[in-house]
Amino acid sequence: MSKNVVIGVSGGIAVYKALDVVSKLKKYDINVHVIMTKSAQEFVTPLSFQSLSQNMVIKDMFEEPKAFEIQHISLAKKADLLVVVPATANIIGKVAGGIADDMLSTTIMATRARVIFAPAMNTNMYTNPIVQDNISKLKGLGYEFINPASGRLACGDVGDGKLADTEVIVDYILSSLHEPKDLIGKKVLVTAGPTRANLDPVRFISNKSTGKMGYAIAAEARDRGAEVVLVSGPSNEKAPAGIKFISVETNEEMLKAVLEEFDTSDIVVKSAAVADYKPKVYSKEKIKKGSGDLVLELTRDNDILKTLGENKKHQILVGFAAESNDVLKNAHKKLEGKNLDYIVANNITEKDAGFGTDTNRVIIIKRDGTSVSLDNMSKRLVGYELFNMILENK
Ligand code: CTP
Repeated sequence: MSKNVVIGVSGGIAVYKALDVVSKLKKYDINVHVIMTKSAQEFVTPLSFQSLSQNMVIKDMFEEPKAFEIQHISLAKKADLLVVVPATANIIGKVAGGIADDMLSTTIMATRARVIFAPAMNTNMYTNPIVQDNISKLKGLGYEFINPASGRLACGDVGDGKLADTEVIVDYILSSLHEPKDLIGKKVLVTAGPTRANLDPVRFISNKSTGKMGYAIAAEARDRGAEVVLVSGPSNEKAPAGIKFISVETNEEMLKAVLEEFDTSDIVVKSAAVADYKPKVYSKEKIKKGSGDLVLELTRDNDILKTLGENKKHQILVGFAAESNDVLKNAHKKLEGKNLDYIVANNITEKDAGFGTDTNRVIIIKRDGTSVSLDNMSKRLVGYELFNMILENK
């Protein structure tokens, strides 16, 4: 049964970002109910939220109810989670002070569900000790906060108070819902990020991979109940909590870490962009520049996935194919050549897909040659679709 998430929208310039949160949640088959405060309606019309959530937006305590039920109580009971996004100083202050004078504050007061605030406000307001005191008080009472980001705010000031990225908010919500738990008892091994091939003590050859795709897959597997091991090359991404994280640098180190975990893994997702070549000679001393050109001689390094394909027993093996041309043809070749069960192919030259982006547009090809083309979507959602497909095919 799909989960009920109540999104409470209070009035601030970040209201439009709450539309994005609602739209993303809908893709996970979540039933979204929106409550808007009066001032939120000054920024965006309820109709926008209604269209995206496909539910009536609740905006007034004394509205004629559709059926006999007291709305703030029925919604408070129905909610699996209540998320206030954006949360202004006003709504935080009201809840901390025990005030319940509109639909949102009364629903927060009446619910037994977890309540999460995603604050967004001017830096001086956010750092004001009154607001900070209210936040501390609410945290002490079990309310949760998704910390705002730092940056240039709508008013031109720079500092804390920018609404957290909508991806971060959606991830937090998905993790909090902990559904579905269909990977309980499974061990999922994920690789992510680039590898480095060292040239000398200061230089290396690497690629543009950031690790975002693999980290999103690891978080998705964890939230579905799997035991997760993430083997990652150098990345600025934060390792998801609650998993085994192994940091590596080179192809060799990744191979070693992966082989140690492979036998006991059920599903292996190799989203890392592994370097295929390394310098033939590693110079222990920094290479000095000469007067002419420098020619580097490279030698082939391990194909980790191919090794796994050759040694696979019960494991479901998923590869990634980063292509700039002939995407399907090249991906099919890798699927067969590396003895994979699935390959996730993407064109790295497309906008909003591939390296460094939060979204990806992929085609998942199955062992039998059939494929599914997915729309452009968050990397987390790609992970969600991938595991759905793996589990459906079992
Ligand atoms: N891979 C690997 N070891 C390598 C190269 C790739 O394990 N040395 C894995 C990647 O993690 C990915 C898949 O193989 O899951 C395909 O990687 P990709 O870089 O697209 O392809 P390559 O096999 O390296 O082929 P090419 O670079 O010629 O496209």
